[in-house]
Amino acid sequence: MTSNELRQRFLDFFEKKGHKIVPSSSLVPQDSSVLFTSAGMQQFKPYFLGERSPYGKKVASSQKCFRTSDIDEVGDERHLTFFEMLGNFSFGDYFKQEAINYAYDFLKEIGLPIQYVSVFKGDKQVPKDEESVKIWKKLGVKKIKGAGREDNFWGPTGKEGPCGPTTEIYINDTEIWNIVFNEYYQDDKGKLTKLKQKGVDTGMGLERLAMVSQNKKNIFETDLFSKITKEISGQDRAKRIIADHVKGAVFLIADGILPSNIERGYILRRIVRRAIRFGKLLGLASGFLIPLAQKVVDIYKDVYPELLSKQPDILTVIQQEDEKFGKTLEKGLKEFEKLAIKIENGGTAGIGGNDTFMLYETYGFPFELTKELAKERGMKVNEKAHKEFEERHKEISRAGFEGKFGGHGLLLDTGELKAANQEELKKVTRLHTATHLLQAALRKVLGEEVHQAGSDITVERTRFDFSFGRKLTSEELKKTEDLVNGVISKDFKVEYKETPYEEAIRSGALYSKREKYPSVVRVYSVFDENTKEVFSKELCGGPHVQRASEIGRFKIIKEESSGAGIRRIRAVVE
Ligand code: ALA
Repeated sequence: MTSNELRQRFLDFFEKKGHKIVPSSSLVPQDSSVLFTSAGMQQFKPYFLGERSPYGKKVASSQKCFRTSDIDEVGDERHLTFFEMLGNFSFGDYFKQEAINYAYDFLKEIGLPIQYVSVFKGDKQVPKDEESVKIWKKLGVKKIKGAGREDNFWGPTGKEGPCGPTTEIYINDTEIWNIVFNEYYQDDKGKLTKLKQKGVDTGMGLERLAMVSQNKKNIFETDLFSKITKEISGQDRAKRIIADHVKGAVFLIADGILPSNIERGYILRRIVRRAIRFGKLLGLASGFLIPLAQKVVDIYKDVYPELLSKQPDILTVIQQEDEKFGKTLEKGLKEFEKLAIKIENGGTAGIGGNDTFMLYETYGFPFELTKELAKERGMKVNEKAHKEFEERHKEISRAGFEGKFGGHGLLLDTGELKAANQEELKKVTRLHTATHLLQAALRKVLGEEVHQAGSDITVERTRFDFSFGRKLTSEELKKTEDLVNGVISKDFKVEYKETPYEEAIRSGALYSKREKYPSVVRVYSVFDENTKEVFSKELCGGPHVQRASEIGRFKIIKEESSGAGIRRIRAVVE
């Protein structure tokens, strides 16, 4: 069975069992305590805690996931950064009996015999899962292993959330399916309490399922990879790392992430540069990632059509990163080589923080890349020292920047926010939501002819350009400001829903005609929970605050012309 067939068979199976099929959510999760969506349950987290699910109590999905935790294992037979997780979920509906039966029946239906299963063996806080043992035995599964917290207890994602004991299914010595019985809530101090409702959260890696179903020795030989790996010749590990990383990069960029030096953007940069370095090792010519990225689009375009519509952007981002890094990679490798030889000859004690930082700053080597190069030579790097150099450098450049422009160390680089730290990110987030409110308020005061013509947010202020034919009066400006501050003082709620693009447009949400959107988009609403009044509704990737009161006081500081028929407003939050 092809992986497209396997994915569809899974969704059809659960649809027949009364589950609502929900599209994959973005790799950028709403839960700000985690960097990436790393499990199918992520978008459903509130429903396990009792919030009403708009999809009903039984859902199933095939979720795009990205995990950095396994990055060093990529290259073996079954670890990946990007993968798809098939899952069925129950929010206070069915529990162990049905969950195990469904899994058993589905695997039987597609002709895969279970080799063995594992169950939670119990510890001081959580009792042994006798019930699952009974259910498996009744189904005729003979080999049942017991395991503890490490292996058979899952969650929570982020700092706190639902979690519980698991039962796992193995085929050909590969863990295929993880079934979590969400009975507990773990708070941010690690304390477990019983949840009011019991839930089921399952996850089956599509790549691993394809591997056993297609009788392959490793995931890279399945149809989810073969088109990519076929294009590369050479050592297996390098080939696999390149294949995994280019796929991850394509999906991350498709979800709006751009290479940068912080957070998600940094991870993207890291995997692209690591892939380039392994390409170099295999002697691949520069630009080799482009045709590989096209293969990724080719493999997934029927399931994720936004990859096709965003293909030009995806390829451009990869190419730019390739050009940036390609120029310095060779020189940086030479520098590293010189250093390594010096160390081997006893000329210097080891790789210092100044060395890893120099390779990063001058040659664009992510710290982890230097660490990997060092490891290959039997050498170590010093992360703490590296961080100290990084901090010192940040302070110096911030001081320089402030001296020159009287501002803070935050610059906008092709739409990518380079926030020097979390606090600044938070400020930008507040300004981002304030900008949505500003646009909505302007349309209320001036009329529907107002459309966004551009915006630019720094840690200092938001700058918003919009279509309008004349200068605004001071009354109009005051009214606009008052409207925004009214929403803030009433503490409206900020929330997003993921819906198909067409539906979002039909719903009247504001969007930019100049932007390309994926087939499933986020619609951010700012609304009054009591009266249900919706003040602003806009297609956007975020980030946004959760409550309007987090914004603080909104103030317009300037209104001016910005070209024919375009006005420009600068505003701040205090
Ligand atoms: N949430 C569970 C996992 O990620 C199913 O393994």
